[in-house]
Amino acid sequence: MEKIDWSTLSFGYTKTHYNVRCYYKDGQWSALEVSDSEMLNIHMGSTCLHYGQEAFEGLKAFRGKDDKIRLFRCEENAQRMIDTADYIMMQAPSVELFTEAIVKVVELNKEFVPPYESGASLYIRPFLIGVGAQIGVSPAKEYMFVVFVSPVGPYFKEGFKPTKVMLEPYFDRAAPNGTGHIKVGGNYAAGMRSGEIAHQKGYSTAIFLDSKEKKYIDECGPANFFGIKDGTYVTPFSHTILPSITNNSLMEIAKDMGLKVERRLIPVEELSTFEEAGACGTAAVISPIGQIDDLENNVSIQFGNPEVAGEWCTKLYNRLRAIQYGDEADKFGWVKVLED
Ligand code: PLP
Ligand code: COI
Repeated sequence: MEKIDWSTLSFGYTKTHYNVRCYYKDGQWSALEVSDSEMLNIHMGSTCLHYGQEAFEGLKAFRGKDDKIRLFRCEENAQRMIDTADYIMMQAPSVELFTEAIVKVVELNKEFVPPYESGASLYIRPFLIGVGAQIGVSPAKEYMFVVFVSPVGPYFKEGFKPTKVMLEPYFDRAAPNGTGHIKVGGNYAAGMRSGEIAHQKGYSTAIFLDSKEKKYIDECGPANFFGIKDGTYVTPFSHTILPSITNNSLMEIAKDMGLKVERRLIPVEELSTFEEAGACGTAAVISPIGQIDDLENNVSIQFGNPEVAGEWCTKLYNRLRAIQYGDEADKFGWVKVLED
């Protein structure tokens, strides 16, 4: 294995030793297979290629000070993949099979779990695709479930420094009664144009508005949005928003630290009343938002010091990381420690 400079890792792909795979056919899942190939061999008529029958997940493994490897809320990802698959008529692996695959792929690639001091982690990407010879628009009869891993650093280049985001004035990521609440590839295809426009204009990502009324805050790129004011953690509630496992955890932590928690519609006009704002997700962890620009209306909203993360963002970030890396007791029961 080539030496990896853990401290300079960004959120990118690094080749590891193995991935794991299994196949659904004739009503049942095969046993897990270990592969050292980075390629898939699938039929050109596969529904994942034509009709978007694709579901994915993202979770992380962390190496603690004690050198032990910890998985964060793996069963939640398993359940979300089941929910996603159910909605787009796919067969999903059970929670048990999903968990077995995750544990196996991490164990096979132990040396790619970054050291404790580096602050990096091992990103785990499970995905599920409809495969097999087909042309008609109907659910596939066969499925492939694959999990690969890659050591990663921060998703947004600023890391834990405030980032600037652009309010997307026009394009929608998901329809009001569509697929925004599940993790299908199509949502990311729909959001890619806005993401690229935001990047070209110098922003780290785009914040979407609700697609029905264009009045409320929706997703913040590949992450949930939250704002903090008057001792309250506020995060949007909507059918078009992915139920983020990180956000759910932060809501618990916020309550535990004495903040009130509100999950509700957030009108765009309310943004300027927040003392702090952030984007949260597995990849993003917490990315403090320093500024949101509404270029259509020439409005720029700033949150605190643009150079330094706010007090609550910092406290929430530290607490979440302490649980994930095992620095703090796992009082919520979120962590699975792998055997040596
Ligand atoms: N929203 C979107 C659109 C995402 O892609 C993600 C990433 O998974 C999240 C939110 C955050 O979800 P989680 O915290 O479960 O990773
Ligand atoms: C994650 O946070 O795990 C995600 O899935 C975001 C990803 C699209 C980069």
